[in-house]
Amino acid sequence: MNGYSLDYHQPVLLKEVVKYLVYQTDGLYVDGTAGTGGHSLSIGKALSGKGSLICLDRDPDAVRLSRERLAVLGNRTKVIQASYADLNKVLEELKIKKVNGVLLDLGMSSYQLDFSGRGFSFNKDEPLDMRMNPESGVPAGYLINRLSADVLKNILRKYGEEKKAGLIVKAIVRAREKKPLTTSFELAALIKSVIHQPYRVKARHPATRTFQALRIAVNKELQNIDTFLDKIPFLLSNGGRLIVISYHSLEDRKIKQAMFEWENRCACPPDFPYCVCGKKPLFRRITKKGLKPVMEEIEKNPRARSAILRAAERI
Ligand SMILES: C[S@@+](CC[C@H](N)C(=O)[O-])C[C@H]1O[C@@H](n2cnc3c(N)ncnc32)[C@H](O)[C@@H]1O
Repeated sequence: MNGYSLDYHQPVLLKEVVKYLVYQTDGLYVDGTAGTGGHSLSIGKALSGKGSLICLDRDPDAVRLSRERLAVLGNRTKVIQASYADLNKVLEELKIKKVNGVLLDLGMSSYQLDFSGRGFSFNKDEPLDMRMNPESGVPAGYLINRLSADVLKNILRKYGEEKKAGLIVKAIVRAREKKPLTTSFELAALIKSVIHQPYRVKARHPATRTFQALRIAVNKELQNIDTFLDKIPFLLSNGGRLIVISYHSLEDRKIKQAMFEWENRCACPPDFPYCVCGKKPLFRRITKKGLKPVMEEIEKNPRARSAILRAAERI
């Protein structure tokens, strides 16, 4: 696929994922975001001959690439094109009630960023698409060219935490009145022309937050996390593990909050001497603070720098 090599994407916090996820080597595990199969391969190898693995990704390219990579694991591994938000439906179809562990490695893969040709990167001149599954939903170009200024501003503020959303949207509206914006380069250059950043060697590109916001909106990323978090307590067996790696605070806040609430479910007022509400904890947090990659990993794989892993055990 356009010169892509299977080990181009380096799985983040790989040893930690396997250590926290695979607590029983003959269990049934799910990698909900298989990508190019980096984590899946190590999980599959850690399992015994009785263990099995179901891998999901919504991106048809990811499904093809991970199938190719995971062929060595034989028929105890299945790769399915689906959203992790539909994990309950996937398991129902496979007649599986509960699994021993689920991994989500959120965000996008290095394949999507650098090789998919779908406009995820402001460093590439590609059509403004950004759909992880190009057969579903609307492309980023549609949002940029068709949404009202207010809706667009709201997207940049909400999903990109972009303080200069007003300025950026004004420039977009002015530009699209003359001609629709169709490529990632055009959008990135437009943003750069209106956002003047102080010079810093490692300054982020001024389009970073806009690109993040559009990608999150196009792929309904936060809604998918919410749907998944509502269902996962019912899909894990006792002792089952949930491991999530997030790459920005909007994702991580949701995971952190859900894990905290699952662990602290008692709804009694704090001055009650003992619990009368009867709500029992659903999970125990394994990582109370969230785990970050060490410097050595970040030096080898700069993509890992914003990663944070949270793990919890169903009780
Ligand atoms: C960071 S990459 C995963 C990389 C993978 N862990 C590896 O080692 O190769 C994230 C992947 O999640 C997929 N993804 C994002 N949202 C998804 C969803 N709702 N359901 C399934 N896959 C999703 C993306 O298509 C992408 O391939």
